[in-house]
Amino acid sequence: MEIIIQPDSQQASQIAARIVARLVREKPHAVLGFATGNTPLQLYRNLAVVHGDTGLDFSDVTSFNLDEYIGIPRAHPSSFHSYMWAHLFSHINMPKERINIPDGMAGDIPAACRKYEQAIRTAGGIDIQILGLGTNGHIGFNEPSSSLSSRTRIKTLTDDSRLTAGPGFGGQENVPNHVITMGLGTIMDAKMCLLLAFGKKKAAAVARMVEGPVTAMVPGSVLQMHPRTVLILDKDAAAELKMADYYNWVRDHKPDWQKY
Ligand code: F6R
Repeated sequence: MEIIIQPDSQQASQIAARIVARLVREKPHAVLGFATGNTPLQLYRNLAVVHGDTGLDFSDVTSFNLDEYIGIPRAHPSSFHSYMWAHLFSHINMPKERINIPDGMAGDIPAACRKYEQAIRTAGGIDIQILGLGTNGHIGFNEPSSSLSSRTRIKTLTDDSRLTAGPGFGGQENVPNHVITMGLGTIMDAKMCLLLAFGKKKAAAVARMVEGPVTAMVPGSVLQMHPRTVLILDKDAAAELKMADYYNWVRDHKPDWQKY
């Protein structure tokens, strides 16, 4: 894991945007994996700005989102479909046909999950998977106890996750119990994972993920086994890392060709 600690989420999101933009420039047919939630909002804003200012071209890019609620129509304001259109797709030039988000209204969910996995393979695999981290250590909606080799499937949300999503649904009691999420095995197949985490409330989960054991109880810890994971944290999210000085030293002594 490469751990990059920045003073704030703005600077962290700028680095993340540079990593994604560089890939899209170098590989116009790149395949991106997107996350939702608060964490990647600044990254998406930055990508929209780079697109507007420099014409960064997304027309050949394909995307796959991590997850979606089951039983919520796409048009629902709190669906991940709505989120992605509001925060990214309306501001860049990705063609609709290249955008993939799990279909939470599919009649046959297991079949839709298999099809989603097949579509990722057909696209050539995900080049960069963007990830956030739940306070309980989840990535995607792979809640604690998820199989470390799981594929895209139905998951039941924890109370924690439903509480967090509550405001978007007018209360926790209205949040769907079930979601479709890429599995941990699916995420691990991405060529690069780019995980962002900001704020004090993520500090404990970040420390368990990075410096604790690999365990299904902290699903994000599976990334310790990934050959190319970059974590970009603000200083609050990094506050409980025991080896922060070492990670900062590594960051400050990177050879030029490795700098972001
Ligand atoms: C959302 C997702 C989740 C979030 C995580 C953090 O697509 O996959 O794993 O990344 O719950 O959420 P925020 O960023 O809102 O703190």
